[in-house]
Amino acid sequence: MTNNAKLSAMLLLLAGAAVAAGSEPRPIDTSKADRGRDVYGRYCISCHGGDGDGRGYSAHWLDPAPRDFTGAVFKWRSTPSGALPSEEDILRTLKGGLYHTNMPPWAVLGERDLRDVVEYLKTFSPRWRNEPVPTAIVIPLEPPDTRESRAAGAEVYKSSGCANCHGEQGKGDGPSAAELKDDWGHRIAPFDMTRSEFLKCGGSPKDVYRVLMTGLNGTPMPSFADQLKAEEAWQLVHFVRSVVRPDSPIKPAIVQR
Ligand code: HEC
Ligand code: HEC
Repeated sequence: MTNNAKLSAMLLLLAGAAVAAGSEPRPIDTSKADRGRDVYGRYCISCHGGDGDGRGYSAHWLDPAPRDFTGAVFKWRSTPSGALPSEEDILRTLKGGLYHTNMPPWAVLGERDLRDVVEYLKTFSPRWRNEPVPTAIVIPLEPPDTRESRAAGAEVYKSSGCANCHGEQGKGDGPSAAELKDDWGHRIAPFDMTRSEFLKCGGSPKDVYRVLMTGLNGTPMPSFADQLKAEEAWQLVHFVRSVVRPDSPIKPAIVQR
């Protein structure tokens, strides 16, 4: 290969990588989606409904309400605010379920059924055919959880306006809390940080970081990606996680995940 030929081969490869990284919508895999319809009909339909509109026959009794998939608005994502989630994002939610809600964990179904049902969920909204899934945000290595980082996080909590919704003590009772509604018109409560170290989407530091830097689409919980540096976001994570147990062990060293 001449140097020029090598260069064009490399450029082609790079262009391929850009498509893979999410500049184009990905077509729905219909055979996977067909298998996923059976999984959905058995395990999901009672809450999320036959049309995926969140109006299954159990839905009437549930608060928070089951998700309506027709607008493809997903709360828990590694993709920027407003964007579609990645397949891995939905899988993470399915495997772990959503704490403090009626959405059960589905890890027991196994990887293949879960991937099939995710593909079927995409058939409910045209957004999946028209919009690319952007690349996930980068979650940098967590610095050590220290007394200092928690104290710095408490300051970031004040300066970022978290207390307007979550309250000064993190109890979910800030001055705006009573008026909040989600995009589906339901009343929605800011998370009560004193109640559990488990957020709805999980309990790890990374889970908190992701929520802060991508926001929860369809809810008043915004993304702080434009306001916070990674270091400040981690300080906030350490603070948020310490609210429920202020004397919880301080993590001495950087842990590689
Ligand atoms: C018993 C009722 C129930 C069943 C059964 C159920 N879900 Fe849910 N699901 C919920 C509720 C309630 C929520 C909304 C929780 C919230 O937003 O706080 C939800 C939310 C979701 C979300 C949204 C996640 C996000 O990021 O916004 C997905 C995806 C989902 N469910 C998929 C499924 C799939 C797939 C199945 C079947 C394997 C299933 N659910 C079965 C109740 C249920
Ligand atoms: C405008 C109101 C508002 C502001 C400001 C706000 N939040 Fe939230 N937050 C919410 C609401 C509402 C929810 C609940 C969403 C749900 O349950 O679907 C939430 C949820 C959360 C959760 C739980 C996520 C989960 O998976 O259960 C955490 C953690 C959180 N917020 C932290 C913060 C922090 C830290 C700040 C400041 C940097 C902040 N929020 C600012 C409204 C707000």
